[in-house]
Amino acid sequence: MALTIGIARETYAGEKRVATVPEVVEKLIKLGFSVSVESGAGDGANFFDEAYSAAGARIAASAAEIWSGSDIIFKVRAPTPDEVAQMKAGTTLIGFIWPAQTPELMEQLAARKVTVLAMDSLPRLLSRAQKMDALTSMASITGYRAVIEAANQFGRFLNGQVTAAGKIPPAKVFVAGAGVAGLAALGTAVSLGAIVRANDTRSEVADQVKSMGAEFVKVDYEEEGSGGGGYAKVMSEGFQAAQRDMYAQQAKEVDIIITTALIPGKPAPRLITAEMVRSMKPGSVIVDLAAEQGGNCELTEPGKVVVKHGVTIVGYTDFPSRLSRQSSTLYATNLLRLTEELCKTKDGIINVNMDDDAIRGLTVIKDGEITWPPPPLKLPTPPAAKPAAAPMPEKKSAHGGGGGPKPAKTLAILFGIGAVLFWLIGAAAPAAFLGHFTVFVLACFIGYMVVWNVTPALHTPLMSVTNAISSIIAIGALIQIAPPLPAGIERPGFWIGFLAFVGLMLTAVNMFGGFAVTRRMLAMFRK
Ligand code: NAI
Repeated sequence: MALTIGIARETYAGEKRVATVPEVVEKLIKLGFSVSVESGAGDGANFFDEAYSAAGARIAASAAEIWSGSDIIFKVRAPTPDEVAQMKAGTTLIGFIWPAQTPELMEQLAARKVTVLAMDSLPRLLSRAQKMDALTSMASITGYRAVIEAANQFGRFLNGQVTAAGKIPPAKVFVAGAGVAGLAALGTAVSLGAIVRANDTRSEVADQVKSMGAEFVKVDYEEEGSGGGGYAKVMSEGFQAAQRDMYAQQAKEVDIIITTALIPGKPAPRLITAEMVRSMKPGSVIVDLAAEQGGNCELTEPGKVVVKHGVTIVGYTDFPSRLSRQSSTLYATNLLRLTEELCKTKDGIINVNMDDDAIRGLTVIKDGEITWPPPPLKLPTPPAAKPAAAPMPEKKSAHGGGGGPKPAKTLAILFGIGAVLFWLIGAAAPAAFLGHFTVFVLACFIGYMVVWNVTPALHTPLMSVTNAISSIIAIGALIQIAPPLPAGIERPGFWIGFLAFVGLMLTAVNMFGGFAVTRRMLAMFRK
């Protein structure tokens, strides 16, 4: 029997988002589910009961109907103990849970024998999971809104202007932490005309910052900040001291600071001290997106806007809720994509498949059993892993032993055997064969070098441009099988014709596939 998805009203003070929107309700119904929405659940995001009804949802008069009567419950914020107490065994709850920070809630949920999918626990680096990544959707909105809030508090233009009354310089914005929210913030600030600088402890971010038109400011201390899974780690004392010096300098120079630095499961790193705030120009603004996790700025007061030493510090913790219609729509779409993964059969029944990496990561409680944290994800080894393995050759040479490394020896032997074989073939085969054979061997060698020496991540674009090679094969194959043949060329035998035909087919797949891939890749960059 088709399952019922229940949408409860968010009860957290000031929360305006809702876990689904009418346009998504229609799609959930097409997947075979029936949908019940608590009356007034979408009011804060301007989605009213009538719109949900029109989309095919049933409107439930009370929250109790949703909590005790649904098979699946969609939520934005984690449920309250009262709400949990109403859930029946076997229900599946999907929402933000933050299992590391909410052990009591996890125990309560487990005791109800429910299944819980925490949207915050999605493995981020799985590209297949991007469509379900609600953290990213919310962080992009947060970054955008942070700049808008900053501009609202800031008493000047963000862009530079030349007016009859004089020249106005552009505002300088510094973004601390360039993850998803940070990049969205700097993109927004650049588009508003500000001069933007950013810093992050993960060095891989520098190129992303530059590509968005901002300047990456480095800390004068060599230490990599990646802590696995794309997230940052806590930095050494030495790094932190050097970073403080750099931030102190930036604080004196810039007009707006937007801080977004977070380390999963740890309090937010303290980046802006009271001293730095004091050194800022009067009228400057700090927006602290880490306020809920303790704040990146020492003087932030979570949920409030305060003015300290003439600097306005915005500590709101509800940025996505401030663009509730947009954030609800994006969140609802993330949940829809997840539901599609859970219900591949499109019959209104879900299967929480623990063999699927993305679903495994999301599932923090399965039928009352706590399954968080998940086992580490086995991702294909990224090329960046090389430095860790670098000390190995040193060790080998330290043992002495003379001679080059083993692979080089094997290669030399193989080359030797190859040369002898080549000489034997040359001595026995006709001259024409030798010419063709030489070209063939060289083509294999070049093909090997061109393809295998390229980072696997770049294989797709590489293949799409090697269409040219395919066209050479296509012409060769066509000459073999297309009658009439030019004078002097003998008609090939059946097997040559057959091989040419197969070659032509495969080449066609490569060529058309290559064009299709190129088209898709270009479409990603088009607005
Ligand atoms: P986050 O919210 O945990 O942290 C924000 C930023 O603060 C990070 O860039 C982090 O490096 C930085 N940071 C931490 N400590 C700092 C310090 N002391 N000083 C300066 N900066 C500091 O990160 P977010 O935005 O959630 O992104 C996490 C990772 O997930 C990123 O690597 C992002 O690229 C990756 N990601 C991958 C996706 C995918 O491949 N599907 C989708 C979304 C994110």
